[in-house]
Amino acid sequence: MKEKISTLKSLLAVKEAERKYLQLRLEDKFDLDEGDQHMNILVCAGTGCTAGDSEVLISALNEKLAEAGLTDQVKVVKTGCFGLCQKGPIVAVYPDRIYYTHVKPEDAERIVNDHVVGGHIIKELQMFDTDRKTGEKVYDIEKIGFYEKQQRIALRNCGRINPENIYEYIGIDGYEALYHVLTEKTPQEVIDIVKASGLRGRGGAGFSTGLKQR
Ligand code: FES
Repeated sequence: MKEKISTLKSLLAVKEAERKYLQLRLEDKFDLDEGDQHMNILVCAGTGCTAGDSEVLISALNEKLAEAGLTDQVKVVKTGCFGLCQKGPIVAVYPDRIYYTHVKPEDAERIVNDHVVGGHIIKELQMFDTDRKTGEKVYDIEKIGFYEKQQRIALRNCGRINPENIYEYIGIDGYEALYHVLTEKTPQEVIDIVKASGLRGRGGAGFSTGLKQR
């Protein structure tokens, strides 16, 4: 059980500790010690992938990692939706940034043995797009058409953190804005910031969130 967070200092201390652990999936670079995790296997646990047995896949990956004696170095992380549900279940291996699609529980063994232990990418599972001009396969996740054309804002961390782990949320700045709102801003300042942000409702009418006051 972690210490209760009651001040900004304690919130930032948790964030700092968590970021080291999250660095495999973020841009930060901390020094990793021998006992630290050196790889994360992210498994989508969104609705579509769960219907495709991603929970069973998570258990199978953990089982195979235990058999290989790698549970300290490699962590399996449940995430939210990656967006490409029709290609699920999706698995991402970090820091390699390799994405696998249509992964089945029985693929857990080769992900652990071939990729994690052997360092070989499993080409037949790897996510790819086809370059419209050259017809060649593109594997770089940043260049996959579906992702390349998006700029995720509110959902930018979906598929990168475990939505059921509050510490991972704190690790990517969670609750800091709330702290500043509660301690430094007047209600009107908060309304002005929300209005200026252009944030709108998602119900269909797109009503300005900054105007939704009592
Ligand atoms: S539910 Fe897994 S990619 Fe959407």
